[in-house]
Amino acid sequence: MPDKSLFDELRSASPLISVGMLTADLMSLGSELDLIHQAGVKLLHVDVMDGCFCPMMTVGPPLIRPIKTPMFKDVHLMIRDPLEKLDSYVAAGADMITVHVESSLHIHRVLQTLGKMTNVNDPSRGIVRGVALNPGTPLEVLEPLMDEIEMIFLLAVNPGWGGQGFISSTRGRAERSIQMIRDAKRDILLGLDGGVTRKNIADVARMGADIIVTGSAVFDGKAPSENAAFMIRAVTDAAGRS
Ligand code: DX5
Ligand code: ZN
Repeated sequence: MPDKSLFDELRSASPLISVGMLTADLMSLGSELDLIHQAGVKLLHVDVMDGCFCPMMTVGPPLIRPIKTPMFKDVHLMIRDPLEKLDSYVAAGADMITVHVESSLHIHRVLQTLGKMTNVNDPSRGIVRGVALNPGTPLEVLEPLMDEIEMIFLLAVNPGWGGQGFISSTRGRAERSIQMIRDAKRDILLGLDGGVTRKNIADVARMGADIIVTGSAVFDGKAPSENAAFMIRAVTDAAGRS
């Protein structure tokens, strides 16, 4: 896709699932990722937790860089003060970088800085900038950021763990975010992350999400390939694209 930006690619292919690798079998990560890629997954969601912004610690750039996959790396930074660390995630091959609005006093500057960075995989691709909101954060914080983002990313769980339940107020927050995007007259993707299972994924797709993260329901220790195919079918059907 040399001449098409990643944003355009995502826009035309959405809704898409982005599969969280937190619960993949790390002893067989390569083959786990091959399985979901072959099932049709285009986005690999990498949850970065620093033990400060949220209780758990996961991976950082040295473990993201060696991941060789044709899937785009969708990096969700649940870390405090991401500004000085953006460079190292870009260098590790991130195609999408989502930062939390709660993570920095100067979130606008973080997004501006990210907007000037180049995708190391392919400079013409661009880096999709997401801004994430915890479930308890009012949506109004988005208003001044609208010109500096390509994706609004709503957490449907509190950050820290896979396998939690989808918080029901996310539905209303998704509706209001879509309205805010319309009012701003901008083309911005909506991402939803957390608690998405085989049971609720069609419903979540009907909430208007473009990017739907699903982790433990795909890497359930049994059938990642079938689970991924099921999720892709569900969002495609829900969008009437089948
Ligand atoms: C929450 C993470 C999510 C989550 C997804 O802290 O951002 O990406 O782990 O996992 P499931 O699908 O298991 O909720
Ligand atoms: Zn995530």
